[in-house]
Amino acid sequence: MKSTTAHPLDAVSVDEIPAETVLRWHAAIADELRAAFETVLPAPRFTLGPRLREFEAELAAYVGTTHCIGVSSGTAALTLALRALGVGPGDEVITVCNTYVATAFAITYTGATPVFVDVDPETLNMDPAQIPAALSEKTKAILPVHLYGQAVEIDRIRAAAPGIPILEDAAHAHGATFGERKCGSLGDVAAFSFYPTKVMGALGDGGAITTSNDELDRHLRQLRYMGQAGPKHEHQELGYQERLDEMQAAFLSVKLRHLDEQIDGRQRVAARYRELLAGTPVVTPASDVTGRHAYYMFTIQAPKRDELAEFLAGRGIRTQIIYPKLVPDQGAYQDHTARRIGDFPVARAAGERILCLPMFAELTDAEIERVAQGIRAFYKAD
Ligand SMILES: Cc1ncc(COP(=O)(O)O)c(C=O)c1O
Repeated sequence: MKSTTAHPLDAVSVDEIPAETVLRWHAAIADELRAAFETVLPAPRFTLGPRLREFEAELAAYVGTTHCIGVSSGTAALTLALRALGVGPGDEVITVCNTYVATAFAITYTGATPVFVDVDPETLNMDPAQIPAALSEKTKAILPVHLYGQAVEIDRIRAAAPGIPILEDAAHAHGATFGERKCGSLGDVAAFSFYPTKVMGALGDGGAITTSNDELDRHLRQLRYMGQAGPKHEHQELGYQERLDEMQAAFLSVKLRHLDEQIDGRQRVAARYRELLAGTPVVTPASDVTGRHAYYMFTIQAPKRDELAEFLAGRGIRTQIIYPKLVPDQGAYQDHTARRIGDFPVARAAGERILCLPMFAELTDAEIERVAQGIRAFYKAD
């Protein structure tokens, strides 16, 4: 990497194009982030204080729910949301096979069994047509993932499992919409991750749960702080130490103000990739099929994917494969109980071809062109 100046915020290479980076965004909003830090430093509280309450109110308003509960990670958000839905040993939760392991681990942590289904070939999101075969009298919830930032077909999922609560995994989908409605407000409850490289990330770990259900909100607040309902040292149930801290909440309030600009930037990059890759053998991702795509990832399907990735790496262009192995194929699920609906032919075939191109809002036109030129050169498409 050819990098330049002393301060790490400026250390953005001119030669190498990273697959993802927050450095440029942080450089642009550094003064706001420093000001946020200054509000927390002299404050008497570092957890469950005013910055967290502010951020929770702002995110709930943005998403369109009545409640938001800040927690320590996306994994905690999923686990607590499942617990609040009453999921436990003997229950089943239907989810997709092509997600980050945390989606399934959260189910397993509760003692319930994940039931893995295949995905739609166009969006790679949960295929609602798979749900009837996955349902059983033990089904306690459905856990679809808005993969890469594109909303799932929530209306078809709900119709396939009437009356069964839906927990959205919105870890990729900050600001994405289904029609006009924001991801995070589509199901009964939703889990966000603020892992730093997400569309809206903290400067460390963080997560949040959104819901418009008052009882879930009450229970989730109790669960995230050691099962306390009221007075300190009175623990009503087995809870967790999983709060979002004041510092991260203050940083996230800054980032939330810029989220829509970030998505506009990601949409600009996606549109340009589409133009420049037309006529090549790669399939670009379905665009805005269900609503506004947040483009956490711009995932193409490419013949000779591994050779292409290597070729691009040789030109200083970093890519990634999200996710390289299906969750039910992971070692963890050879030991733990899971149910599999079929052998996931769609996700398995896509898994051989998916490649996530560099994607962040500050990619320059010249960089986007360099990526596209690399792909065109690989396929000799010029
Ligand atoms: C789809 C999905 N679900 C859940 C998570 C877990 O979030 P976290 O890393 O904040 O625990 C992530 C991200 O890592 C994710 O991508």
